[in-house]
Amino acid sequence: MAKLKLGVIVGSNRRDSINRKLAQALSLLGRDAFEAKFIQIDDLPMYNQDTELPVPAPVARFKAEVEGSDALLVVSPEHSRSIPAVLKNAIDWGARPWGKTSWPGKPAAVTGTSGGAISTAIAQQHLRAVLGDQGLHLMGGEAYIQFKPDLVDATGKVADDSVQKFFKTFIDQFAAFAGKFAPAAARQAA
Ligand SMILES: Cc1cc2nc3c(=O)[nH]c(=O)nc-3n(C[C@H](O)[C@H](O)[C@H](O)COP(=O)(O)O)c2cc1C
Repeated sequence: MAKLKLGVIVGSNRRDSINRKLAQALSLLGRDAFEAKFIQIDDLPMYNQDTELPVPAPVARFKAEVEGSDALLVVSPEHSRSIPAVLKNAIDWGARPWGKTSWPGKPAAVTGTSGGAISTAIAQQHLRAVLGDQGLHLMGGEAYIQFKPDLVDATGKVADDSVQKFFKTFIDQFAAFAGKFAPAAARQAA
C-alpha cells in the first residue's frame, strides 16, 4: 500500500517539548507505513468567533494540512489535568467556521508523556471525548508514557529496547487501523 499521509499534532508550544520528541520517535518508527508531516499549531491566533471570517491565514494553512492528512497522531502533554490551551485552540479552529469542520472521518491515535506517574492519562481522556465529538475515528487502547530523561534523543531514537518495542507496536497498530480508513487511491496502490 502507498504510504499514508500522517498529520502529527503536538499539543505543546514549548521549544524543548518532550512530547515533540516522543512524536518524532513515533514518526521514525512508523516511517514504512506513514509519510509524517508535523502540523504547526502555535501560530494560530486565539480563537474568537468575531475574527473567524475571513479565515486567518495560519488557520487556513492548518485546516488544509488537517484535511490533507489520511490520519492524525496527536501527542500531547497534560496541563492542569486536561489538554493544553494551545491544543484546544487548534481543535476549535479546526471545527470552524460552522459547516466547514476539518475533522470528521479522520482516523486518529492519541498519546502523550509527562514526568508524572499517571502521565497524561486524564488529558488523554478529555482529548478522546473532544475528538470523538468532532467525528474522528479514535484508535482504542491506551499509551501513557512516563517521561525519563533518556526516553528519546533529539533525533527521535529510543534508548530502551522494551520502550522501543512498545512504541513500535503502537505505531504498527495505528498503521493497520488507519489503513482501514485510507482513501481508495491508497488502497489500490497496494
Ligand atoms: C500549566 C502546566 C500544567 C501542568 N499540569 C500537569 C498535569 O496536570 N499533569 C502532568 O502530568 N503534568 C503537568 N504539567 C507538567 C508537564 O507535564 C511538563 O511541563 C511537560 O514537560 C510538558 O510537556 P512538553 O515538554 O511536551 O511541553 C504541567 C505543566 C504546566 C506548564
